[in-house]
Amino acid sequence: MYNVIFKRRSVRFFKSNPISKVDMREILRAGMWAPSAKNRQPWKFVVVRGKSKDEMLALMEKGIERSEKGEGVLAGSSDLYTNARFTLKCMKEAYNIVFIVNPNGRDIEEEWTPADKIHELSDVQAIGAAAQNMALQATSMGIGSLWIGNIFFAYEELTEWLGKGQMVLAMAFGYPNHNPCPLARKSEDEVIEVRD
Ligand SMILES: Cc1cc2nc3c(=O)[nH]c(=O)nc-3n(C[C@H](O)[C@H](O)[C@H](O)COP(=O)(O)O)c2cc1C
Repeated sequence: MYNVIFKRRSVRFFKSNPISKVDMREILRAGMWAPSAKNRQPWKFVVVRGKSKDEMLALMEKGIERSEKGEGVLAGSSDLYTNARFTLKCMKEAYNIVFIVNPNGRDIEEEWTPADKIHELSDVQAIGAAAQNMALQATSMGIGSLWIGNIFFAYEELTEWLGKGQMVLAMAFGYPNHNPCPLARKSEDEVIEVRD
């Protein structure tokens, strides 16, 4: 397991080879077996490929353009647009994109009570665990993955297009076309505090 954890990298260049349905199902099943608060399993996995992927990418492009014009939830994050466009290119190359949607999640712009916020924070943790399970399972099968936060540039467009609740994250999958070097991590002393 430790090996797979260290072997996983964010893959941003993909070959065009398809991922078989059987292999993709195995990756999704790894996601479904993540822990969740009160076993709520706050997720739907939407696998997007082929023509649907083209449709989705056009919306993503529209969202980035809208942000550049100063509209949308990420308007004003100008330093991030180039990064978002690069992510879009990675998404185009990937064989498929899996969205994880929380059917009971709340809209970003809604008013939250503290209880709502805690509920949602727990669900987001569970969804993160599902995503990591999928990334590790993919790594163990020689399949590359990329966790995509830049979908939030097209939050409005993609949430409506997915139509299943709160869009929380997306992950791209495909066979790697490069061998990314590991990025340095902070030192253990910086991030670990032990209190006896
Ligand atoms: C919540 C989250 C959002 C991310 N969003 C993006 C993204 O939109 N585009 C991208 O290229 N990488 C994205 N990444 C990948 C990170 O940049 C990457 O994990 C980090 O630089 C460490 O590299 P590694 O995954 O190879 O260890 C995201 C990762 C996480 C966990």
